[in-house]
Amino acid sequence: MARPKIVPTGIECPFDESELIVSKTDLKGNIIYANDVFMRLSKYPPGDVIGAPHSMIRHPDMPRCIFKLLWDTIQAKQEIFAYVVNMARDGDHYWVFAHVTPTLDRQNNVIGFHSNRRKPDRGQVDTIQKLYRSLREAETSERNAKEGMMRGYDMLMGQLKDRGVEYDEFIFSI
Ligand SMILES: Cc1cc2nc3c(=O)[nH]c(=O)nc-3n(C[C@H](O)[C@H](O)[C@H](O)COP(=O)(O)O)c2cc1C
Repeated sequence: MARPKIVPTGIECPFDESELIVSKTDLKGNIIYANDVFMRLSKYPPGDVIGAPHSMIRHPDMPRCIFKLLWDTIQAKQEIFAYVVNMARDGDHYWVFAHVTPTLDRQNNVIGFHSNRRKPDRGQVDTIQKLYRSLREAETSERNAKEGMMRGYDMLMGQLKDRGVEYDEFIFSI
């Protein structure tokens, strides 16, 4: 059954700097584990979370190209750090700084993914929000979602090139 469309409220869910939001997924990004902080912030009952796609907490302000970068990186068996704004069941939101890693078996096959997230500080959120707004604008200027995502992706890569930095260097300079 299709999920009802959630409208963002603009209200931020509070959480503590000492808290860690944790989830694990299968290879397709379906949630197989979520800790109590995840549950509290997402405001979903546990039965709705386990087995659901991680995009269930996607906020419409998130650029698609960031998720492309995320998936390209973790599927290539690399880890990635990313700022993400997530949306709770009631439309409230919370910014996180996520560290997403692939889980490998003994034969070096990817068998799942893991994400740990902490609260970023306000200055970091302000900086990333400006970038994400411009990426999202570029993405939504295209009719076709995939073309929009590639436009956002090219814009991000262009900005990194202009600064002469790799994505990781950029993220840790914020
Ligand atoms: C381990 C892991 C953690 C993820 N965490 C989030 C998250 O916190 N918020 C989010 O919107 N997407 C997260 N994603 C990405 C989603 O799988 C998905 O790509 C994204 O929400 C965009 O969904 P869409 O392409 O269906 O719009 C995560 C993926 C993985 C593998």
